[in-house]
Amino acid sequence: MKVFVFVLSLISLGFADDEINSRYFPKSFKFAVANAATQIEGGWLEDGKTESIWDHFAHTHPEKIGDHSTPDIACDSYHKYKEDVAMVKAMGLDYYRLSIAWTRILPTGYPDKINQAGVQYYKNLFAELKAVNVEPMVTLYHWDLPQALEDELGGWLNETVADLFAEYARVCFELFKDDVKMWITINEPKQVCQAGYGSGYYAPGVVSDGIGEYICSKNLIMAHAKAYHIYDNEFRATNQGRVTMVIDTSWSEPGSDSAENQEAAERALQFGFGLYANPIFIGNWPQVVIDRIAQRSELEGFATSRLPAFTDEEIAYVKGTYDYLGLNHYATKMVNATADAPIGDPAYWKDISVSTWGKPEWPNGAGDWFSVVPWGLRHLLVWLKKTYGDVEIVITENGLSDTTGIIEDDHRISYYQGYLSACLDAIYEDGVNLSTYTAWSIIDDWEWTSGYGIFLGMHYVNFTDPERTRIPRKSAGWFTNMVKTRCLVDTCTE
Ligand code: NOJ
Repeated sequence: MKVFVFVLSLISLGFADDEINSRYFPKSFKFAVANAATQIEGGWLEDGKTESIWDHFAHTHPEKIGDHSTPDIACDSYHKYKEDVAMVKAMGLDYYRLSIAWTRILPTGYPDKINQAGVQYYKNLFAELKAVNVEPMVTLYHWDLPQALEDELGGWLNETVADLFAEYARVCFELFKDDVKMWITINEPKQVCQAGYGSGYYAPGVVSDGIGEYICSKNLIMAHAKAYHIYDNEFRATNQGRVTMVIDTSWSEPGSDSAENQEAAERALQFGFGLYANPIFIGNWPQVVIDRIAQRSELEGFATSRLPAFTDEEIAYVKGTYDYLGLNHYATKMVNATADAPIGDPAYWKDISVSTWGKPEWPNGAGDWFSVVPWGLRHLLVWLKKTYGDVEIVITENGLSDTTGIIEDDHRISYYQGYLSACLDAIYEDGVNLSTYTAWSIIDDWEWTSGYGIFLGMHYVNFTDPERTRIPRKSAGWFTNMVKTRCLVDTCTE
């Protein structure tokens, strides 16, 4: 019943089949699927791996995970990676996006001892991918900081961790220089900092709203830049790969044409996406972010802004540390301006000063973390081009979450059709330099605080079955055919 209503809503929103873009994807366009170590690997303490902040969080705070589960086994990909690669091959994909677990390579967090068993696991995985002609797209940090660095140094609130990340990156660049060309330093800095060190909703659960998250943001950006420069100076000439940071954002649609609401929507984008993208693509934090946090900090009695400043040297060092723009996208929000909150305890939401909501007719838009609004992706792609120039954009994540897990997932097919059609519109109508689309995900996984309670995979996994058998959903067949035909409907034109 739920699915029926869902599909109907998609049709009533104007994403019926006849409105899907019927151009072929350009021949150079690439298709991929994504995953992350904590979410699929399992083997959490196996062969020398140590505890990450998410292992620790799930074990020590089960009440913070929807189903009180842990990622101890997850999809057991540590043992079943060959099955994962076989699925990727069967789908005819160009890239397989995965992440390396820092705790598998450097168990202490420091570059003092390389864990050969961990290295071998990824070497085997890369060899398996190579054998079927699929390129790895590799994230170095997908949220799994070694717990030791949280305990000993305070994690991402300590700038020394940025140096340690750079050391870890150098180790990986060296170890896997023959295997990987497409690198991602850090995945979704906003979630790492705002949820990890602001609201405390994510691991490591530090609550420091309006303070910790900004300190974390600067340290993450510096960590990224250090890793980028190491690659540039020591590996680029021989490895000829590419490096970027992956940043997530919803699209912010102004609630009305008023200048105030237009500005509010822009402000929301700058506080969410610009906070990370601006230093890298333009130089320094966005001005609106600098100004608002400085003003409120002063009124709150702080001697300096809660947003740590970049020095001129740091601005120059960070600016330009990208080879493409990596985008994760899951939602659209309506945005209006609100009156500034009274001065009191600092908070990120008070710094932004907007109200956001989802339209009830958008599937899941009325209250979930994601919403199904394909035109939001198109607007976002156009905004990225306008804001950051004609940079190559790689969509590194986009996908549909549901709570049913049903195999006949027609609603996921409609979702991919709608979002991929928005990509075609952006490429052909708006001239956006979009090269790649990555679906999240090929397989159900451990979804952080939602545990095993939500499903995003094109393959179903029964997490109570010790074999963790992968079973294709209907969407896997549709996606496979789409990759093969490069077309979203029955007949396409060039
Ligand atoms: C973004 C994160 O990068 C990924 O780890 C997560 O599973 C997806 N969102 C879906 O929730």
